[in-house]
Amino acid sequence: MNQASGDAGRIVTGEQYVEQITALESDRRARAAFQDLVSRIVSPGAMLFDFGSGTGIDARFYAQRGFAVTAYDVDPQMRDYFAAHCRDLIDADRVILEGGNYREFLARKNAGGLSADLVTSNFAPLNLIDDLPELFAKFHAITGPHGRVLASVLSPYFIGDLRYRWWWGNLPRLWRDGRYSVQGAQAPIIRRRLANFAEQSRPYFTLERVFRVSRCRFMFLLFEKRLA
Ligand SMILES: C[S@@+](CC[C@H](N)C(=O)[O-])C[C@H]1O[C@@H](n2cnc3c(N)ncnc32)[C@H](O)[C@@H]1O
Repeated sequence: MNQASGDAGRIVTGEQYVEQITALESDRRARAAFQDLVSRIVSPGAMLFDFGSGTGIDARFYAQRGFAVTAYDVDPQMRDYFAAHCRDLIDADRVILEGGNYREFLARKNAGGLSADLVTSNFAPLNLIDDLPELFAKFHAITGPHGRVLASVLSPYFIGDLRYRWWWGNLPRLWRDGRYSVQGAQAPIIRRRLANFAEQSRPYFTLERVFRVSRCRFMFLLFEKRLA
C-alpha cells in the first residue's frame, strides 16, 4: 500500500512491513477487531484459509487459538518472513504455507481436499485484485458447503481520505463504475463500492454483512457461500 491508502513508503521486506503495519494505533485496533471477529464467527477447531497472509501475524494468532490454518501470499519476501515467524507451527503441521505465483495458486488443484470453514483476508489484499470473480471461484472451490469469506477492505468513504485530491478526482468514477484504482507500491489499489463487491462475488458468494470500525480506513465484509 502507498500514499493513496495512507501508508508511507514502499513495502520492501517482511521486516519493514511488520514495522509499518504495527506502528499506528488505528491499524493495531483494526487488526484486533478483525481477529476478534474471526474468533467469534467460527467454531473452535475450525479450518481457516488466510489469503494474502503477509508475514503470518494473523496465521500465528489463529493457530495459537486452536484453528487449523492454510495460508497463501503472492510475495516471496512475505512468505520467507512468514515461514520463519511461524516455523514452530509449520513444523507441528498446525500451519500450512502455500507458495507459487498467483496464476499457479488459482490453477492449483485442491489435492488435499481443503474444505475451509472461513477464508480470511486482512488488511486489504482484495483491494489488490482486479478480477475478483476468478478469486471468489477459487474461494468457492476451497471452502466447505457452509464456507464463508471475511475480508478487511479499504472503505471508499473513509473520512480521513477526503483531504486528498485523488479521492475527489476519483469520486465520479466511483459513482459511475462502482470502482477506481490508484497506483500502489505492489499493484494498483482498487477501491470498490459495496454493490461492486456484492456483484463481483456472485455467483459464488453472497455479501451478507458489513462491519464498520470507528475512525478506521477498513471495513470488514462477510460473504456466505452460495450453494450450486
Ligand atoms: C497489506 S498486506 C496484508 C498482509 C496480511 N494479511 C496482514 O494482515 O498483515 C497485503 C498482502 O496481500 C498480498 N497480495 C497482493 N496481491 C496478492 C495476490 N494476488 N495473491 C495473494 N496475495 C496477494 C501482498 O503480498 C501482501 O502481503
